[in-house]
Amino acid sequence: MEPYSRHVLICTGGFCSNERRGRALYAQLAKLLQREDLLFGPRRVKRSEAPCLGVCGGGPIVAVYPEGIWYAGVTPELLERIVVEHLRDGRIVDEAVFHRLQP
Ligand code: FES
Repeated sequence: MEPYSRHVLICTGGFCSNERRGRALYAQLAKLLQREDLLFGPRRVKRSEAPCLGVCGGGPIVAVYPEGIWYAGVTPELLERIVVEHLRDGRIVDEAVFHRLQP
C-alpha cells in the first residue's frame, strides 16, 4: 500500500448534525481531493466516514490527522477551505478549529 500523508475523518452521524450533513461532505471531499491532486503521490490523503466521533454537537465534525486538528460546523464552503488551505497548502484554518490533539 502506498503511504498516506494525512487522514481525514468525517462524522456522518445524526447527533452533531440533525440532517446528517456530514454525508454530503464526505461525497464532496472525494471530488475536492481529486481536483486538488491529493489522491495519489506523496500528498495522498485518506478519507473515512465515522458514525460518531464522540462530540455529538456543533457538527458536522471533521478531524485531520496526523496533526490532530478537529473542525466544527463544517459547511461545504469550509470543507473547500480545509482541503485547499490545510490539506494542500499546509495552513490550518484556525478560526474553525475547536480541538487540537495534545502532543
Ligand atoms: S454524531 Fe457526530 S460526533 Fe457524534
